[in-house]
Amino acid sequence: MDLQAQYMGRTIKSPIIVGSCSLTDNMDNIKRMAEAGAGAVILKSLYEEQITKEVSSNIWAMQNAGEMVAAYNYIAEHTESNQIDKYLDLIRNLKRCTDIPIIASVNCFSSTEWMQFATALADAGVDGLELNMFILPSNVNMSAEEVEQIYDNVIQTLRRAVSLPISLKISSYSASLAKLCQRLSWMGISTLSIFNRFIEHDIDIDKQVFKPVNIQSSPSELYNTIRWTSILSKLVNCSITAGGGVHKEEDVIKLLLAGASTVQVSSVLYEDYSFITRANEKLSRWMEENRYHHIGDFRGKLAINKNSEVSPFYRIEYMKHFSGIE
Ligand SMILES: Cc1cc2nc3c(=O)[nH]c(=O)nc-3n(C[C@H](O)[C@H](O)[C@H](O)COP(=O)(O)O)c2cc1C
Repeated sequence: MDLQAQYMGRTIKSPIIVGSCSLTDNMDNIKRMAEAGAGAVILKSLYEEQITKEVSSNIWAMQNAGEMVAAYNYIAEHTESNQIDKYLDLIRNLKRCTDIPIIASVNCFSSTEWMQFATALADAGVDGLELNMFILPSNVNMSAEEVEQIYDNVIQTLRRAVSLPISLKISSYSASLAKLCQRLSWMGISTLSIFNRFIEHDIDIDKQVFKPVNIQSSPSELYNTIRWTSILSKLVNCSITAGGGVHKEEDVIKLLLAGASTVQVSSVLYEDYSFITRANEKLSRWMEENRYHHIGDFRGKLAINKNSEVSPFYRIEYMKHFSGIE
């Protein structure tokens, strides 16, 4: 069976991609992921604040940090020196000993000097850059247009700076998510990565403080990923890499049917990298049973048609299951 897929301008041997996470910060893990059959690996993100701290002087960073001063302080305290050099060395070493695409990742919220780093990434031989855009629209002084403008600025500046393929990892918080994704997909990005997960908090009622929860995803998150993959895949002018809630081997097939070109996994790999091998085998078996030879023979079979109105479908489904009218 031919499991080849397209990702960031490259043909890769499997549609399963390891998403950026703490497992993808060293050679040993990444080599094992490649051996298990991953199509590509996205490195653990560097934070804009880390890069700015090293690229420019701390003083510049602090002056421009505005509301992000606390984040800069945290980074300054917790980041070892030479993080950027270590990141670039990791890329150079990986490119020598693996043949799968290695994608860098930057967690950013603005188009500041961190972008100089993109050129260094390209020089180190990275195959692409995923931008994890950390935009939680919680500022009452910013309109929806102003928030969306941040995405535009970052992509435009980056496109001028480097010719690397760019994947944009976007959050699902937008008043008009489909329209936003479609517009961004026309801006020369190679891939739209859905979705960025914000950390969630519970409340400890004894200490009366927030406490972080759900660091890893749960299987029920898959359904939101299926929903938006099927809505977006025919609307956007780029490929979709879908992730969030993939915990069973068959979930990969579901997201391909919904229209994803590739599927990202992170949480499930904290148990065992052999998930990648099992998911590739499951995909291969399923394709054989269904007489598909290539992923293109079934990819997007359940994607929602570009011109169809999605809301009425979801409204009727809602009525069927929740209204008790039958
Ligand atoms: C422990 C952990 C660390 C993560 N770190 C990053 C990161 O540095 N950058 C990033 O873009 N996403 C990060 N993610 C998010 C994953 O790349 C992925 O988008 C998300 O976990 C959903 O996929 P999953 O359900 O397979 O975990 C992290 C996820 C986990 C579980």
